[in-house]
Amino acid sequence: MKLIQLTDPHLCGRGELVCGRDPAKSLTAAVADINRHHADADLVIITGDLSDDGSPQSYRLLAEIIVPLVPPARLLLGNHDDRSAFRSVFQDAPADDDFIQSVMNIGDHRLVFLDTLDEGAVAGRLCERRLAWLDRCLAEKTGPALVFMHHPPFDIGMPPLDGVKLADPRVFADLLRRHGNVRHIFAGHVHRLCSGTWNGIAFNTGRSTNHQTAPLFGAKDFAVGFDAPAYNVILTDGADITVHAQEIA
Ligand SMILES: [Fe+2]
Repeated sequence: MKLIQLTDPHLCGRGELVCGRDPAKSLTAAVADINRHHADADLVIITGDLSDDGSPQSYRLLAEIIVPLVPPARLLLGNHDDRSAFRSVFQDAPADDDFIQSVMNIGDHRLVFLDTLDEGAVAGRLCERRLAWLDRCLAEKTGPALVFMHHPPFDIGMPPLDGVKLADPRVFADLLRRHGNVRHIFAGHVHRLCSGTWNGIAFNTGRSTNHQTAPLFGAKDFAVGFDAPAYNVILTDGADITVHAQEIA
């Protein structure tokens, strides 16, 4: 199985810049790069902050940009997104009632796509309804699970980002521990390449297709960095998982 994780494209209106970069141009380049090198991927997952301003026009632009994408795509929401504007454009997006969360089984794996958006907040949230849905998904025991979500439940050692991760991560950790079948968490939000383990579960984050977080460890305030945009290439065949960070030319 080959999966691609793209994250944080931060689209707005066509031609509008975000942090001095053109997010539409960046995402278009990512789509071309994936088609050139990974047209055989089973799925592309965009892990939130699809939009920068939550506007319907940004989602229309997203729909337009991903038309040429060869592999199928699954779209997740982040703190910059707006659920109703998203749904006004992506009316057929898989969802669980109000929340843009879903599952997909590929081979032996169950892919779980979470909706951590807490509208009006920068930090993420999984409310009781979303946690109950996740509990049911993981209880079905369909094989090892890979979880995709915008907000990481873990710290990455950068205080301005660690302060706006998923709220109540212990509740989420307890739920995962009870089931014991989540092998890997893939998150967005931090605009950095970072990997490690959290409560014994492997994780990766990814660079944005647009702007990055500057490497200011210990800094009090967030600062924009300009590392090259990248996406993650996830390879798995059975129990083992390999993740490549692929910079976009
Ligand atoms: Fe973001």
